[in-house]
Amino acid sequence: MNDIIFSDRLKLREPELKSLYMELYGNEACYRDLVRNLAVFHESRSKSLKCRDAEKRMTPGWYKSEELLGMMLYIDNFAGNLNGVREKLPYLKKANVNYLHLMPFLDTVPERSDGGYAVADFRKVRPDLGIMEDLEALTAACHEQGMNVCMDFVMNHTSEDHEWAKRARAGEGQYMSRYFFYADPSVPREYDKTVPQVFPTTAPGNFTWLEDAGHWVMTTFYPYQWDLNYANPIVFNEMMYNYLYLANRGVDVVRIDAVPYIWKEIGTTCRNLPQVHTIVRMMRLIGEIVCPSVILLGEVVMAPEYVAPYFGTEDRPECHLLYNVTTMATTWHTVATRDVRLLRQQLDVVGRLPKTQVFLNYLRCHDDIGWGLDYPTLESWGMGQPEHKQFLNDYFRGLTGSDARGELYNEDPVTRDARLCGTTASLCGMEGDHKQDAIRLDLTLHAMMLFQSGIPVLYSGDEIGQINDWDYKRDPNKAADSRYLHRGKMPWDLAEKIRDPESAEGQIFAGLSQMEKLRREKRAFAAHADFWTWDTGSQQVLGLGRWLEGQLLVGLFNFGGESCAVPLDDVYADMLGGELHSYAVELPGYGFAWLEQEL
Ligand code: GLC
Repeated sequence: MNDIIFSDRLKLREPELKSLYMELYGNEACYRDLVRNLAVFHESRSKSLKCRDAEKRMTPGWYKSEELLGMMLYIDNFAGNLNGVREKLPYLKKANVNYLHLMPFLDTVPERSDGGYAVADFRKVRPDLGIMEDLEALTAACHEQGMNVCMDFVMNHTSEDHEWAKRARAGEGQYMSRYFFYADPSVPREYDKTVPQVFPTTAPGNFTWLEDAGHWVMTTFYPYQWDLNYANPIVFNEMMYNYLYLANRGVDVVRIDAVPYIWKEIGTTCRNLPQVHTIVRMMRLIGEIVCPSVILLGEVVMAPEYVAPYFGTEDRPECHLLYNVTTMATTWHTVATRDVRLLRQQLDVVGRLPKTQVFLNYLRCHDDIGWGLDYPTLESWGMGQPEHKQFLNDYFRGLTGSDARGELYNEDPVTRDARLCGTTASLCGMEGDHKQDAIRLDLTLHAMMLFQSGIPVLYSGDEIGQINDWDYKRDPNKAADSRYLHRGKMPWDLAEKIRDPESAEGQIFAGLSQMEKLRREKRAFAAHADFWTWDTGSQQVLGLGRWLEGQLLVGLFNFGGESCAVPLDDVYADMLGGELHSYAVELPGYGFAWLEQEL
């Protein structure tokens, strides 16, 4: 029965898959190999996962549900290893989490790992974290509890410790052609004319000279992360097999890492090229054929105009989910400026996108915050780009007298451009002298994130207001990369305090819990509800509205330190406290209100 369904799915999608493949590669033999393997991977997919495929096909928009709440975590920091995470599922349940993003856990060499984003073997778990069977046990346990599991698929590059890289380094032509190898520096020089740098301080340049191999190799990220050459159909095929292998271990959401970078052309920025979209579209078709319950989350950390195109079109969809990166950066801009105008404009842009497009909302993740803001607008308000970035970076390092504590990331020695690191709580001021203000701001930012359409994803530790881990500087494998500032171990001793309502941990955990539950209960939080922003009469207060089937929700978020009375057009009930607010509501400094009305 399943096989009939598989062949139907294949039949339906093959014409498009084949035409895209032939357009890109023109290689019939490789295409046949791909299709043969789709059947092999489907064949080896477990019965229970095939059932999951069938179930999820009944609710194809399952990932758009307002009932989803995500958390991303490092397995070792959170619970030592994969089995440890399984044991901690009750805690995650208590934190209302039903979408679990496991940070990279495949085999990597600790000294050359980039937090696990330098994969040495796509089919092996990092030994200290467990084995593949542990992953399967964890995904199965998550599924039993109604949780979805997300993992990274690092497709732009492999580690130099990957078998292909080792064989390429040894001079095997077949493997050299899976990467970008050049004996002569002239081609790298051509690329360098137009390709910007990702890590200008920690890993300058886009190529690395391999003394032993006598070649340059393209390394857009760290020198030990070798870019894969997707112009070679064998690379595409083999990486698709790795993707399907991992999907068959029970992963529900595949985060395609650094996807805008996967196609390279001299004379371009090597970002967001049309071929990238062809490849993502093919991945979507392949997933729909072999493992239809698995969805794609695109990691597109790019200027706003490049992000939404990764949803594809209605007829030819690409990613199911994308990060709401501009809203995230603009939120932190608003914290520093206490001026909600840009955030309002950004939320209006997102609100105008088709409701079928689902974003993943977040305040912090494992990476730095890049200041990808709408600079033309800021400039029209008299805020120049370099000065503004400098202001933000100073603010979040506490240099302007704020309580925020963060660190710069990859300050470009030439342009002076820099990004920023730090946990949500520390950036909200939790390490400073005004803890209650920090707690209120922290909850207000979460309240704003939870009020938006899309999947909210917490960064592990944020549910208890975890602060920065300054100790990373003592670990030689981490010291040079300030992103480790916000990659500390889960402080389980502090997590104990969630039962103490006086503690910061207790206040944040309970505050989030209450909002997360409301989000599941109120129908107007559905992704297809109407969503709008409104002018609250105060530059420091953001006003958001939602409406669905007679339910009106109003969110007010005060980014200023002083309390503020906001006029209302009617009487509203407070969703959190239950009291009524008649024609006005008083927001404390850094406070918020969630109001409702049944019409
Ligand atoms: C993504 C990851 C980041 C990593 C990079 C290279 O952007 O989020 O942590 O350094 O890819 O793989």
